Amino acid sequence: MKEFLYGVSTAAFQIEGDDGTQGKGESVWDTFCKRENTVYLDQSPAVSCDHYNRFEEDVDLMKELGVNAYRFSVAWARILPQGVGEINVKGVEFYQKLVDKLLACGIQPVVTLYHWDLPEALSERGGLRNPDFPQWFAEYVTVVATMFQNKVRTYVTFNEPINCVNSGYKAGVFAPGFKLNLLQGLKCMHHLLKAHQRAAEILHNFDKNVKVGFVTSTWEEYPATDTKENYERAKTLFFEKPQYLESVDSYLDPVYLGRYPKRLLDGVPEFAKYVEKDDFSLSPKITDFVGLNNYGGHAIDEQGNQLPITTQTKISNIGVVVDEKGLYYGVKFLSDRYQKPVIITETGCCCNDWVSADGNVYDQPRIDCISAYLSSVEKLRVEGYDVGGYFVWSLMDNFEWISGYSKRFGLVHVDFETLKRTKKQSYYFYQKYIREHLEK
Ligand code: NOJ
Repeated sequence: MKEFLYGVSTAAFQIEGDDGTQGKGESVWDTFCKRENTVYLDQSPAVSCDHYNRFEEDVDLMKELGVNAYRFSVAWARILPQGVGEINVKGVEFYQKLVDKLLACGIQPVVTLYHWDLPEALSERGGLRNPDFPQWFAEYVTVVATMFQNKVRTYVTFNEPINCVNSGYKAGVFAPGFKLNLLQGLKCMHHLLKAHQRAAEILHNFDKNVKVGFVTSTWEEYPATDTKENYERAKTLFFEKPQYLESVDSYLDPVYLGRYPKRLLDGVPEFAKYVEKDDFSLSPKITDFVGLNNYGGHAIDEQGNQLPITTQTKISNIGVVVDEKGLYYGVKFLSDRYQKPVIITETGCCCNDWVSADGNVYDQPRIDCISAYLSSVEKLRVEGYDVGGYFVWSLMDNFEWISGYSKRFGLVHVDFETLKRTKKQSYYFYQKYIREHLEK
């Protein structure tokens, strides 16, 4: 039987911390967070969960939880402080020790190569705007593939590219905070997509058994009533947003179908001139799975309008509607269009959690959400969809980008003063679920 991955996800910038003595270079997020009024209460990511020094304790928490996979990201600037060139040996050793500890605990590492923390040195050379970006990324990926050779079998190249490109270079709300025009933004996307293809090629050349994926974020439209017509309508809305840089088809069609959507090339002829016919001819052959991050969804009626949010709807305190049907239909739509296995690389729920006087963290809303998501996963598997795994965001509370420490997503509570970890009730719920469902 093919192994199903039950995991948890994190990202380097959100958990590791850096006291400046370990040779790590700055990333665009380090510099972005130093700008006044950018992050909630100007909170600093410098300590965060201090995972860099406490990774053994954190892996022990995962072992006890019973997950068989852990998705984490490598901080590019930790191993290549300038993005290219000199290697920081301490950084390489840190990730090697982490992977060895995971393997010793029977936990499969799933490595994200780019979870938004571009080295600042490369940003100063243009970052995603520079057509050399794929070459820089290739150098970095070669270092990672070498340090993890024969140990890591599953890679994600980019996490939520819509956020890397649109939020970082067009809307300017995420690092590096640029507000470029559409054409410039599309060129950034193009360089990122070419970097994905290069990386997948390198990883497969290193080890023909690796699986490489690309992780998309979506806020799924799904049919309120499942007639064929409604299903198709919701699917179209899911893939085709009017804003090209926020649209799933712009990013995923080149990766999985080898070409940009016609509507994009027709809609922005200046961009079409920048693209060569066979730019992505290799990508569909060497990209093995679709990674899906899902935090909600909304129902679409017969007219294609969103149904109003009702009082029964679960809203997590990051403001999104948690809806397991979004996840269910998201997987179906992606499978239909791209014909690749899907791994649910993140779902999660943000709650107001605190440690009670009796030492417990009672996070029933998170349990309700995870349990609902898992029921969607079960349904999809029964229906025969090729779902390879399910990962909860996140192992522990962490630095939630511009929201700082104000948003808690963890199965484990972190006291950001003392750094003490406390298992929440959702941790025990997921532990029990895994015990009951893991195929031995
Ligand atoms: C998706 C991102 O990948 C992750 O970094 C973030 O913390 C979660 N969503 C929650 O917002």
